Amino acid sequence: MLLKRVSSALSLVTVGAILLTACGTDAPTATAVPAAPATTAPTMAATAAPPVVATDPAVPTMTATTAPVMAATIAPTTAATSTTGTTGAMTGGKIAILLPETKTARYESQDLPLFKAKLTALGFDVEKNLIYSNANQDASAQQQQAEAALTNGAKVLVLDPVDSAAAGAIADAAKAKGVPVISYDRLIKGSDAVSYYISFDNEQVGKLQGQSLLDALKGKTNPTVVMINGSPTDNNATLFKKGAHSVLDGKVNIAKEYDTPDWSPDKAQGEMQQALTALGNKVDGVLAANDGTGGGAIAAMKAAGVTPLPPVTGQDAELAAIQRILVGEQYMTIYKAIKPEAEQAAQLAFTLLGGKTPDAGMVSSKVANGKIDVPSILLNPVAVTKATVASTVVKDGFWKASDICTSEYAKACTDAGVK
Ligand code: BGC
Repeated sequence: MLLKRVSSALSLVTVGAILLTACGTDAPTATAVPAAPATTAPTMAATAAPPVVATDPAVPTMTATTAPVMAATIAPTTAATSTTGTTGAMTGGKIAILLPETKTARYESQDLPLFKAKLTALGFDVEKNLIYSNANQDASAQQQQAEAALTNGAKVLVLDPVDSAAAGAIADAAKAKGVPVISYDRLIKGSDAVSYYISFDNEQVGKLQGQSLLDALKGKTNPTVVMINGSPTDNNATLFKKGAHSVLDGKVNIAKEYDTPDWSPDKAQGEMQQALTALGNKVDGVLAANDGTGGGAIAAMKAAGVTPLPPVTGQDAELAAIQRILVGEQYMTIYKAIKPEAEQAAQLAFTLLGGKTPDAGMVSSKVANGKIDVPSILLNPVAVTKATVASTVVKDGFWKASDICTSEYAKACTDAGVK
Protein backbone atom coordinates (compact mmCIF):
# COMPACT_ATOMS: atom_id res chain seq x y z
CA MET A 1 0.00 0.00 0.00
CA LEU A 2 1.35 3.32 -1.01
CA LEU A 3 0.23 6.32 0.88
CA LYS A 4 0.68 9.67 -0.70
CA ARG A 5 -0.37 12.83 1.00
CA VAL A 6 -2.35 15.05 -1.22
CA SER A 7 -3.15 18.13 0.71
CA SER A 8 -3.32 19.24 4.25
CA ALA A 9 -6.10 21.68 4.49
CA LEU A 10 -6.45 21.68 8.21
CA SER A 11 -4.45 20.49 11.08
CA LEU A 12 -7.00 17.77 11.50
CA VAL A 13 -8.11 16.61 8.21
CA THR A 14 -5.30 15.95 5.93
CA VAL A 15 -6.27 14.04 2.96
CA GLY A 16 -4.22 11.05 2.13
CA ALA A 17 -4.12 9.28 -1.07
CA ILE A 18 -3.64 5.62 -1.01
CA LEU A 19 -2.99 3.00 -3.46
CA LEU A 20 -4.23 -0.23 -2.16
CA THR A 21 -2.95 -3.06 -4.11
CA ALA A 22 -4.45 -6.00 -2.41
CA CYS A 23 -7.77 -5.48 -0.89
CA GLY A 24 -8.71 -7.40 2.12
CA THR A 25 -10.52 -10.58 2.10
CA ASP A 26 -13.90 -10.63 3.61
CA ALA A 27 -13.78 -11.76 7.14
CA PRO A 28 -16.55 -12.72 9.52
CA THR A 29 -19.27 -10.08 10.60
CA ALA A 30 -20.63 -6.88 12.70
CA THR A 31 -23.02 -3.28 13.96
CA ALA A 32 -23.02 -0.24 16.22
CA VAL A 33 -24.82 2.65 18.08
CA PRO A 34 -28.12 4.17 18.93
CA ALA A 35 -30.56 4.27 16.12
CA ALA A 36 -31.24 7.63 14.66
CA PRO A 37 -34.80 8.49 13.90
CA ALA A 38 -35.76 7.09 10.58
CA THR A 39 -38.62 8.98 9.14
CA THR A 40 -40.41 7.31 6.37
CA ALA A 41 -41.36 9.10 3.26
CA PRO A 42 -42.54 8.12 -0.09
CA THR A 43 -39.52 8.31 -2.23
CA MET A 44 -39.64 4.99 -3.85
CA ALA A 45 -41.80 2.06 -4.55
CA ALA A 46 -42.05 -0.53 -1.91
CA THR A 47 -38.92 -2.44 -1.23
CA ALA A 48 -38.09 -4.88 1.47
CA ALA A 49 -36.69 -2.36 3.86
CA PRO A 50 -38.78 0.74 4.18
CA PRO A 51 -37.41 3.61 2.23
CA VAL A 52 -36.41 6.18 4.68
CA VAL A 53 -36.60 9.70 3.62
CA ALA A 54 -34.73 12.63 3.82
CA THR A 55 -35.82 14.48 6.80
CA ASP A 56 -32.80 15.63 8.58
CA PRO A 57 -32.92 14.50 12.13
CA ALA A 58 -31.26 16.71 14.62
CA VAL A 59 -27.80 16.65 13.38
CA PRO A 60 -24.82 17.89 15.15
CA THR A 61 -24.41 21.24 13.59
CA MET A 62 -21.15 21.32 11.90
CA THR A 63 -19.62 24.65 12.04
CA ALA A 64 -17.48 23.02 9.56
CA THR A 65 -13.92 23.80 9.71
CA THR A 66 -13.52 20.44 8.13
CA ALA A 67 -13.72 21.92 4.70
CA PRO A 68 -14.01 19.68 1.74
CA VAL A 69 -10.44 18.78 1.40
CA MET A 70 -10.36 18.65 -2.29
CA ALA A 71 -11.56 21.17 -4.70
CA ALA A 72 -14.53 19.66 -6.35
CA THR A 73 -14.55 21.13 -9.73
CA ILE A 74 -16.49 19.87 -12.63
CA ALA A 75 -14.63 19.14 -15.77
CA PRO A 76 -16.80 18.90 -18.80
CA THR A 77 -16.21 15.67 -20.60
CA THR A 78 -17.91 12.45 -21.45
CA ALA A 79 -21.56 11.84 -21.45
CA ALA A 80 -22.61 9.30 -18.93
CA THR A 81 -26.21 9.83 -18.13
CA SER A 82 -28.82 12.45 -18.22
CA THR A 83 -29.62 16.04 -17.75
CA THR A 84 -28.42 19.45 -16.90
CA GLY A 85 -25.95 21.97 -17.89
CA THR A 86 -23.08 23.40 -15.96
CA THR A 87 -25.07 25.76 -13.82
CA GLY A 88 -26.24 23.10 -11.44
CA ALA A 89 -29.90 23.82 -11.99
CA MET A 90 -31.12 20.30 -12.26
CA THR A 91 -34.06 19.73 -14.46
CA GLY A 92 -34.46 16.07 -13.71
CA GLY A 93 -32.65 12.83 -13.13
CA LYS A 94 -32.54 11.01 -9.88
CA ILE A 95 -29.71 10.11 -7.58
CA ALA A 96 -30.07 7.17 -5.18
CA ILE A 97 -28.15 6.82 -1.95
CA LEU A 98 -28.29 3.44 -0.22
CA LEU A 99 -26.95 3.24 3.32
CA PRO A 100 -26.28 0.03 5.26
CA GLU A 101 -27.75 0.31 8.73
CA THR A 102 -29.28 2.47 11.43
CA LYS A 103 -27.74 1.14 14.64
CA THR A 104 -24.68 3.24 14.02
CA ALA A 105 -25.64 6.87 14.46
CA ARG A 106 -23.56 8.39 11.68
CA TYR A 107 -25.61 7.33 8.69
CA GLU A 108 -28.84 9.14 9.37
CA SER A 109 -27.53 11.84 11.63
CA GLN A 110 -24.59 12.86 9.47
CA ASP A 111 -23.91 11.11 6.19
CA LEU A 112 -27.41 11.55 4.81
CA PRO A 113 -28.11 15.14 5.85
CA LEU A 114 -24.65 16.29 4.77
CA PHE A 115 -25.03 14.54 1.43
CA LYS A 116 -28.42 16.17 0.91
CA ALA A 117 -27.23 19.61 1.94
CA LYS A 118 -24.41 19.51 -0.57
CA LEU A 119 -26.70 18.35 -3.36
CA THR A 120 -29.11 21.12 -2.50
CA ALA A 121 -26.31 23.66 -2.62
CA LEU A 122 -25.46 22.37 -6.08
CA GLY A 123 -29.01 23.03 -7.23
CA PHE A 124 -30.38 19.49 -7.00
CA ASP A 125 -33.94 19.03 -5.76
CA VAL A 126 -33.52 16.44 -3.02
CA GLU A 127 -37.18 16.31 -2.13
CA LYS A 128 -38.14 15.39 -5.64
CA ASN A 129 -35.15 13.59 -7.02
CA LEU A 130 -33.25 11.89 -4.21
CA ILE A 131 -34.01 8.26 -3.50
CA TYR A 132 -32.85 7.11 -0.09
CA SER A 133 -33.03 3.65 1.42
CA ASN A 134 -31.45 2.10 4.46
CA ALA A 135 -30.92 -1.66 4.48
CA ASN A 136 -30.90 -2.12 8.25
CA GLN A 137 -27.99 -4.54 7.95
CA ASP A 138 -29.78 -6.79 5.50
CA ALA A 139 -27.80 -7.41 2.30
CA SER A 140 -30.71 -8.87 0.38
CA ALA A 141 -32.93 -5.96 1.38
CA GLN A 142 -30.23 -3.68 0.01
CA GLN A 143 -30.20 -5.60 -3.25
CA GLN A 144 -33.96 -5.09 -3.54
CA GLN A 145 -33.63 -1.43 -2.65
CA ALA A 146 -31.06 -1.00 -5.40
CA GLU A 147 -33.31 -2.74 -7.91
CA ALA A 148 -36.19 -0.51 -6.88
CA ALA A 149 -34.01 2.59 -7.19
CA LEU A 150 -33.01 1.61 -10.72
CA THR A 151 -36.61 0.83 -11.62
CA ASN A 152 -37.65 4.18 -10.22
CA GLY A 153 -35.28 6.05 -12.44
CA ALA A 154 -32.05 6.50 -10.49
CA LYS A 155 -29.34 7.68 -12.87
CA VAL A 156 -26.52 7.55 -10.32
CA LEU A 157 -26.18 5.06 -7.45
CA VAL A 158 -24.28 5.95 -4.29
CA LEU A 159 -23.91 2.68 -2.42
CA ASP A 160 -22.55 1.95 1.06
CA PRO A 161 -22.78 -1.83 0.96
CA VAL A 162 -23.93 -4.10 3.76
CA ASP A 163 -21.94 -6.84 2.11
CA SER A 164 -18.94 -5.67 0.11
CA ALA A 165 -18.73 -8.82 -2.01
CA ALA A 166 -22.46 -9.25 -2.65
CA ALA A 167 -22.71 -5.61 -3.70
CA GLY A 168 -20.70 -6.40 -6.82
CA ALA A 169 -23.91 -7.77 -8.34
CA ILE A 170 -25.72 -4.51 -7.54
CA ALA A 171 -23.03 -2.51 -9.33
CA ASP A 172 -23.19 -4.88 -12.31
CA ALA A 173 -26.96 -4.43 -12.52
CA ALA A 174 -26.56 -0.65 -12.45
CA LYS A 175 -23.96 -0.79 -15.19
CA ALA A 176 -26.29 -2.83 -17.35
CA LYS A 177 -28.64 0.14 -17.21
CA GLY A 178 -25.90 2.67 -17.86
CA VAL A 179 -26.01 3.93 -14.28
CA PRO A 180 -22.66 4.86 -12.72
CA VAL A 181 -21.97 3.63 -9.18
CA ILE A 182 -20.10 5.40 -6.38
CA SER A 183 -18.84 3.12 -3.62
CA TYR A 184 -19.46 5.09 -0.45
CA ASP A 185 -17.33 4.49 2.65
CA ARG A 186 -17.22 0.70 2.13
CA LEU A 187 -15.65 -0.83 -0.97
CA ILE A 188 -17.82 -2.67 -3.48
CA LYS A 189 -15.78 -5.68 -4.50
CA GLY A 190 -15.59 -7.91 -7.54
CA SER A 191 -17.17 -5.59 -10.07
CA ASP A 192 -15.81 -3.45 -12.87
CA ALA A 193 -18.86 -1.23 -12.59
CA VAL A 194 -17.62 0.93 -9.73
CA SER A 195 -16.85 4.42 -11.03
CA TYR A 196 -15.48 5.93 -7.81
CA TYR A 197 -14.75 4.99 -4.21
CA ILE A 198 -14.72 7.53 -1.40
CA SER A 199 -13.71 6.56 2.11
CA PHE A 200 -11.00 6.93 4.73
CA ASP A 201 -7.65 5.22 5.07
CA ASN A 202 -9.25 2.31 6.85
CA GLU A 203 -6.15 0.31 7.61
CA GLN A 204 -4.82 3.44 9.28
CA VAL A 205 -7.97 3.50 11.44
CA GLY A 206 -7.02 0.07 12.82
CA LYS A 207 -3.41 1.13 13.30
CA LEU A 208 -4.44 4.21 15.28
CA GLN A 209 -6.74 2.10 17.46
CA GLY A 210 -4.00 -0.46 18.08
CA GLN A 211 -1.37 2.19 18.83
CA SER A 212 -3.65 4.04 21.24
CA LEU A 213 -4.35 0.82 23.08
CA LEU A 214 -0.64 0.07 23.31
CA ASP A 215 -0.06 3.57 24.70
CA ALA A 216 -2.76 2.99 27.30
CA LEU A 217 -1.25 -0.36 28.28
CA LYS A 218 2.28 0.96 28.60
CA GLY A 219 4.07 -0.58 31.54
CA LYS A 220 2.05 -3.82 31.54
CA THR A 221 3.86 -7.00 30.66
CA ASN A 222 2.14 -9.08 28.00
CA PRO A 223 -1.27 -7.55 28.66
CA THR A 224 -4.42 -9.55 27.93
CA VAL A 225 -6.45 -8.01 25.14
CA VAL A 226 -9.89 -8.87 23.73
CA MET A 227 -10.54 -7.90 20.12
CA ILE A 228 -14.09 -7.09 19.06
CA ASN A 229 -13.95 -6.62 15.30
CA GLY A 230 -16.65 -5.40 12.94
CA SER A 231 -18.81 -7.22 10.44
CA PRO A 232 -17.08 -9.86 8.35
CA THR A 233 -19.10 -8.78 5.31
CA ASP A 234 -17.77 -5.21 5.52
CA ASN A 235 -14.47 -4.75 3.74
CA ASN A 236 -13.72 -1.86 6.10
CA ALA A 237 -13.91 -4.20 9.09
CA THR A 238 -11.32 -6.40 7.43
CA LEU A 239 -9.03 -3.40 6.99
CA PHE A 240 -9.55 -2.12 10.55
CA LYS A 241 -8.69 -5.56 11.86
CA LYS A 242 -5.64 -5.85 9.65
CA GLY A 243 -4.36 -2.46 10.76
CA ALA A 244 -4.91 -3.23 14.45
CA HIS A 245 -3.19 -6.61 14.21
CA SER A 246 -0.22 -5.05 12.46
CA VAL A 247 0.37 -2.94 15.56
CA LEU A 248 -0.68 -5.30 18.36
CA ASP A 249 0.61 -8.69 17.26
CA GLY A 250 3.64 -9.78 19.26
CA LYS A 251 3.16 -6.98 21.78
CA VAL A 252 0.05 -8.11 23.63
CA ASN A 253 -1.71 -11.39 24.31
CA ILE A 254 -4.85 -11.38 22.18
CA ALA A 255 -6.71 -13.85 24.35
CA LYS A 256 -10.08 -13.67 22.60
CA GLU A 257 -11.11 -12.27 19.24
CA TYR A 258 -14.53 -11.98 17.65
CA ASP A 259 -15.96 -10.79 14.36
CA THR A 260 -19.26 -9.16 15.19
CA PRO A 261 -22.16 -9.95 12.88
CA ASP A 262 -23.78 -6.78 11.53
CA TRP A 263 -21.58 -4.62 13.74
CA SER A 264 -24.29 -5.18 16.34
CA PRO A 265 -23.58 -3.58 19.74
CA ASP A 266 -25.77 -6.22 21.38
CA LYS A 267 -23.76 -9.00 19.83
CA ALA A 268 -20.55 -7.25 20.86
CA GLN A 269 -21.84 -7.21 24.42
CA GLY A 270 -22.49 -10.95 24.22
CA GLU A 271 -18.99 -11.55 22.85
CA MET A 272 -17.46 -9.55 25.68
CA GLN A 273 -19.51 -11.48 28.22
CA GLN A 274 -18.16 -14.73 26.81
CA ALA A 275 -14.61 -13.41 26.93
CA LEU A 276 -14.97 -12.27 30.53
CA THR A 277 -16.30 -15.65 31.58
CA ALA A 278 -13.51 -17.47 29.78
CA LEU A 279 -10.84 -15.17 31.19
CA GLY A 280 -12.20 -14.90 34.72
CA ASN A 281 -12.77 -11.15 34.20
CA LYS A 282 -9.03 -10.62 33.73
CA VAL A 283 -8.82 -8.30 30.76
CA ASP A 284 -6.28 -5.48 30.42
CA GLY A 285 -7.61 -3.85 27.27
CA VAL A 286 -10.31 -4.10 24.60
CA LEU A 287 -9.76 -3.32 20.94
CA ALA A 288 -13.30 -2.53 19.82
CA ALA A 289 -13.66 -1.62 16.15
CA ASN A 290 -16.19 1.18 16.62
CA ASP A 291 -18.09 3.08 19.27
CA GLY A 292 -21.11 0.81 19.03
CA THR A 293 -19.15 -2.36 19.67
CA GLY A 294 -17.05 -0.53 22.29
CA GLY A 295 -20.25 0.54 24.05
CA GLY A 296 -21.40 -3.09 24.04
CA ALA A 297 -18.09 -4.25 25.52
CA ILE A 298 -18.24 -1.59 28.23
CA ALA A 299 -21.81 -2.58 29.12
CA ALA A 300 -20.71 -6.21 29.48
CA MET A 301 -17.81 -5.26 31.75
CA LYS A 302 -20.00 -3.06 33.92
CA ALA A 303 -22.55 -5.85 34.24
CA ALA A 304 -19.77 -8.25 35.23
CA GLY A 305 -18.53 -5.80 37.87
CA VAL A 306 -15.14 -5.18 36.26
CA THR A 307 -13.46 -2.26 38.05
CA PRO A 308 -11.65 -0.25 37.07
CA LEU A 309 -12.69 -0.54 33.45
CA PRO A 310 -9.72 -1.32 31.20
CA PRO A 311 -8.97 0.90 28.19
CA VAL A 312 -11.44 0.38 25.32
CA THR A 313 -11.05 1.74 21.79
CA GLY A 314 -13.74 2.88 19.36
CA GLN A 315 -14.45 4.72 16.13
CA ASP A 316 -16.87 7.31 14.79
CA ALA A 317 -16.55 9.95 17.53
CA GLU A 318 -20.18 9.41 18.42
CA LEU A 319 -21.58 11.75 21.02
CA ALA A 320 -22.10 8.96 23.56
CA ALA A 321 -18.53 7.79 23.02
CA ILE A 322 -17.08 11.26 23.46
CA GLN A 323 -18.98 11.51 26.73
CA ARG A 324 -17.72 8.09 27.83
CA ILE A 325 -14.19 9.21 27.00
CA LEU A 326 -14.55 12.34 29.11
CA VAL A 327 -15.68 10.37 32.16
CA GLY A 328 -13.01 7.70 31.63
CA GLU A 329 -15.20 4.78 30.56
CA GLN A 330 -13.77 4.60 27.04
CA TYR A 331 -10.17 5.32 26.23
CA MET A 332 -10.34 6.61 22.68
CA THR A 333 -12.29 6.89 19.47
CA ILE A 334 -11.45 7.65 15.85
CA TYR A 335 -12.73 10.88 14.36
CA LYS A 336 -13.55 10.61 10.70
CA ALA A 337 -14.71 13.90 9.25
CA ILE A 338 -17.89 12.80 7.52
CA LYS A 339 -18.53 16.22 6.04
CA PRO A 340 -15.86 16.07 3.32
CA GLU A 341 -16.73 12.43 2.67
CA ALA A 342 -20.46 13.10 2.17
CA GLU A 343 -19.92 16.35 0.31
CA GLN A 344 -17.43 14.94 -2.14
CA ALA A 345 -19.69 11.96 -2.75
CA ALA A 346 -22.51 14.41 -3.51
CA GLN A 347 -20.26 16.37 -5.83
CA LEU A 348 -19.24 13.20 -7.68
CA ALA A 349 -22.86 12.04 -7.97
CA PHE A 350 -24.03 15.43 -9.21
CA THR A 351 -21.26 15.66 -11.76
CA LEU A 352 -21.99 12.17 -13.08
CA LEU A 353 -25.69 12.93 -13.21
CA GLY A 354 -24.90 15.90 -15.40
CA GLY A 355 -23.10 13.58 -17.80
CA LYS A 356 -19.73 14.98 -16.93
CA THR A 357 -16.46 13.58 -15.67
CA PRO A 358 -15.31 14.72 -12.24
CA ASP A 359 -12.15 16.74 -12.25
CA ALA A 360 -9.14 14.45 -12.19
CA GLY A 361 -7.69 16.44 -9.31
CA MET A 362 -10.52 15.29 -7.11
CA VAL A 363 -9.39 11.70 -7.27
CA SER A 364 -6.22 10.99 -5.41
CA SER A 365 -5.62 7.28 -5.64
CA LYS A 366 -6.78 3.92 -6.85
CA VAL A 367 -8.01 0.99 -4.80
CA ALA A 368 -8.11 -2.56 -6.17
CA ASN A 369 -11.51 -4.19 -5.68
CA GLY A 370 -10.64 -7.60 -7.09
CA LYS A 371 -11.76 -6.64 -10.58
CA ILE A 372 -10.44 -3.17 -11.29
CA ASP A 373 -8.46 -0.37 -9.70
CA VAL A 374 -11.20 2.01 -8.62
CA PRO A 375 -10.44 5.76 -8.79
CA SER A 376 -10.59 6.76 -5.14
CA ILE A 377 -10.63 9.54 -2.61
CA LEU A 378 -9.32 8.50 0.79
CA LEU A 379 -9.48 10.81 3.79
CA ASN A 380 -7.43 10.74 6.96
CA PRO A 381 -8.74 9.42 10.29
CA VAL A 382 -7.71 11.06 13.57
CA ALA A 383 -7.36 9.43 17.01
CA VAL A 384 -9.19 11.18 19.87
CA THR A 385 -8.53 10.72 23.60
CA LYS A 386 -9.69 12.71 26.60
CA ALA A 387 -6.71 15.02 26.14
CA THR A 388 -7.64 15.82 22.53
CA VAL A 389 -11.44 16.07 22.53
CA ALA A 390 -11.23 19.86 22.64
CA SER A 391 -8.57 20.15 19.95
CA THR A 392 -10.21 17.71 17.53
CA VAL A 393 -13.96 17.13 17.35
CA VAL A 394 -14.88 20.32 19.18
CA LYS A 395 -12.39 22.53 17.38
CA ASP A 396 -13.48 21.08 14.08
CA GLY A 397 -17.15 21.73 14.79
CA PHE A 398 -18.05 18.03 14.63
CA TRP A 399 -19.61 18.42 18.08
CA LYS A 400 -20.35 21.58 19.96
CA ALA A 401 -19.31 21.74 23.58
CA SER A 402 -22.98 22.31 24.39
CA ASP A 403 -23.86 18.97 22.75
CA ILE A 404 -21.32 17.14 24.87
CA CYS A 405 -21.42 19.04 28.13
CA THR A 406 -24.88 18.30 29.47
CA SER A 407 -25.18 18.62 33.24
CA GLU A 408 -24.04 15.04 33.78
CA TYR A 409 -20.82 15.77 31.90
CA ALA A 410 -20.23 19.37 32.97
CA LYS A 411 -17.45 18.57 35.39
CA ALA A 412 -15.73 16.14 33.01
CA CYS A 413 -15.87 18.82 30.33
CA THR A 414 -14.29 21.40 32.60
CA ASP A 415 -11.56 18.95 33.59
CA ALA A 416 -10.79 18.23 29.94
CA GLY A 417 -10.93 21.87 28.87
CA VAL A 418 -13.97 21.33 26.67
CA LYS A 419 -15.90 24.56 26.45
C1 BGC B 1 -17.80 2.43 8.87
C2 BGC B 1 -17.79 2.83 10.33
C3 BGC B 1 -19.03 2.28 11.03
C4 BGC B 1 -19.21 0.79 10.72
C5 BGC B 1 -20.55 0.28 11.23
C6 BGC B 1 -17.91 0.94 8.76
O1 BGC B 1 -17.91 0.52 7.44
O2 BGC B 1 -16.64 2.90 8.24
O3 BGC B 1 -17.75 4.24 10.44
O4 BGC B 1 -18.94 2.44 12.41
O5 BGC B 1 -19.14 0.54 9.35
O6 BGC B 1 -21.59 0.80 10.50
